[in-house]
Amino acid sequence: MILPSLTSITLLALTGILAQAKPTSNLRTWDEAYAKAEQVVSKMSIEQKVGLTTGMGWGITNCVGNTYASEDPDFPSLCLQDGPLGTRYASNATAGVSGINAAATFDRNLMYKRAEVIGKESRGKGVHIQLGPSVDMLRAPNGGRGWEGFGEDPYLQGVAGAEFVKGVQDQNLVATAKHYVLNNQETNRTTSNSDVDDRTLREIYVWPYARMVEAGIGSVMCSYNYYEDVHICENDYMLNTVLKKELSFRGFVMSDWGATHSTAPSANGGLDMTMPGDINYGDGLSYFGPNLTKAVENGEVTEERLTDMATRIAAAHFKVGQDKDYPETTLRSFDRQNEPEVIVTSDDHINFVREIGAASLILLTNDGILPLSSKDFGKIAIVGSDAAPPSVECTDLACNDGTYVQGWGSGTVDFPYIISPTEGITNRAGDSVKVVHTYDDWDTEAAAELASDADIAFVFAKTEAGEEYLMVDGNNDRKNLTLWNNGDNLIQAVADANENTVVVIHSVGPVLMPWIAHKNIKAVVWPGLPGQETGNSLADVLFGDVNPSGRLPYTIAKKEEDYGAHISAEYNIEYGEKLNVGYRHFDANDIEPLFAFGYGLSYSTFDYGKLKVNTKRGKRDTLATATVFVRNTGDVDGAEVAQAYISFPESAGEPPKVLRGFERVYLKAGQQRKVNFEFTETDLSIYDEESSCWVVPEGEYTVSIGASSRDIRESATFEL
Ligand code: NOJ
Repeated sequence: MILPSLTSITLLALTGILAQAKPTSNLRTWDEAYAKAEQVVSKMSIEQKVGLTTGMGWGITNCVGNTYASEDPDFPSLCLQDGPLGTRYASNATAGVSGINAAATFDRNLMYKRAEVIGKESRGKGVHIQLGPSVDMLRAPNGGRGWEGFGEDPYLQGVAGAEFVKGVQDQNLVATAKHYVLNNQETNRTTSNSDVDDRTLREIYVWPYARMVEAGIGSVMCSYNYYEDVHICENDYMLNTVLKKELSFRGFVMSDWGATHSTAPSANGGLDMTMPGDINYGDGLSYFGPNLTKAVENGEVTEERLTDMATRIAAAHFKVGQDKDYPETTLRSFDRQNEPEVIVTSDDHINFVREIGAASLILLTNDGILPLSSKDFGKIAIVGSDAAPPSVECTDLACNDGTYVQGWGSGTVDFPYIISPTEGITNRAGDSVKVVHTYDDWDTEAAAELASDADIAFVFAKTEAGEEYLMVDGNNDRKNLTLWNNGDNLIQAVADANENTVVVIHSVGPVLMPWIAHKNIKAVVWPGLPGQETGNSLADVLFGDVNPSGRLPYTIAKKEEDYGAHISAEYNIEYGEKLNVGYRHFDANDIEPLFAFGYGLSYSTFDYGKLKVNTKRGKRDTLATATVFVRNTGDVDGAEVAQAYISFPESAGEPPKVLRGFERVYLKAGQQRKVNFEFTETDLSIYDEESSCWVVPEGEYTVSIGASSRDIRESATFEL
């Protein structure tokens, strides 16, 4: 297999076929899609229907998963490919920002556009089914795959998930929501039982899936873990009762890779497709395939159920309009040398990655040193391997000796190149500024010496994490929340040596910051995991070409014990914090975070005023509306993220407040705009365990609007 080159090449020099990435507008309603699907499936034999539901095996097909094609009636082999941030195992494609960065933008349009780029590129490679988004909740701050998803809040996960579905499916691909459900840590992911009550299950963990079903999602991937001691992929309650009946999901359920454990119990439990098909990778056997045919013939699985399985799969395919003008699959996931050259990246995509990289950067502290002006300094010192271009390559990115821009595992994509932070800063600073660097994280003396005579010192540090099948230094879930590679000591040493120190952290999630009060640390910059344009996105913000507006999609605590949930090594993982996930736990227990959920600074300042709440029943199922005026009171143009939190009547037993709206508004210096929020019946409901129904509690509600979960500027009450 050819591994990606991590050198800085220019894509414009590439030759080859430019993929025809124009979307067709063949989208259908579910009813129309079912009508088409029923027509085809009704002509299929049992074996042909089984073929649709069965993967051909791991490592031997073009994509990470492929179904069997059918002839007469014709139905293609569907190509299933990771993942949540781009097209895995693909050359000439773009490596964009991770899911956690999309969440940090708090911007629906950017979330949609990101998914549109992913959809265009995957479509150009002939992928039918995109294996994303991931909406696994960042329940414990060190969860290994939290960076693939959208943070610690279900509402944010739901909005970002739905935008992903729309963006990808508008490009005629089926999106796949994963990992359904309660798959929130890597430790023992295949052997643990997630133990959660019915209300928490729905209000926190199923919530994002409900929003994606509303957005028309075509497929859902069931996860490895157990619920009530039954594998999720054969869990009748989770798949049939909750997903298919309660949420009215009309698409299909595929297994995570190797998460199928039986034939009839899986098919009857709600699983529609087994992936990658084999029982154990490479054994040529399958729980579906001939075993499913046999189960249908001997009555363990009804033919009606098999028809339902095949119809759901075909319907998803027709819903997104893959039956017309669809590109052939040119991926060669396991034979990269023979991958035809099809260029799906473009200048537009690259520019977009740079833009969303900057828009997702979170400025945590700034005493005024930023934005930089090249006039004010002649020498910049850059310290830390996290500023360097990576020079090593290995499977699914489970090694990294340079700047960190993605975690590791199946949710990664190849890098065509990486603009390192050093390169980005050096280019932007221009010839009049001398830039010196050291990438040795362990030689703190050399770092201090280099920093000591610079006008400004940037010190870079990182954390890494990823998926279970790969381990880095004993981590997949992070073992702790400290910085990697001697980061704390490096930051301390540089800050001791230079009174204009700026800390930059590329991290998969929250970290501890023992040095935060150091008087020489003049700014802390948090770019998250920004993809191939990382250095340019960073420089855009550092030099003030872009005014930062990213917001934390998780809480950064003062100490690890402050968090409400932790990775468990037990078989039974108790979700004992119930509804108090993330910031809700900090609010409920009156714990001061270091940096709150929703927090992030700007180079400008914003005022909020004149909040008005109305309970007049509006269009659709809106029960209340709020309007607030936001004014840019500084002298720099920029975006503010206004956030709306709802406090339910006390009798509801909800956390003190929950996010139920956000709007990123761009304001010129001095400009004011009215921001509108609508709260629907869904937004104002709770799941009542006694009646097993969603209900709108009666009583007094509070709307709190502000710049973070701990920076509420205006609030008002209303009665329902
Ligand atoms: C296992 C991962 O959990 C899942 O997210 C991924 O889509 C499949 N492998 C396929 O690579």
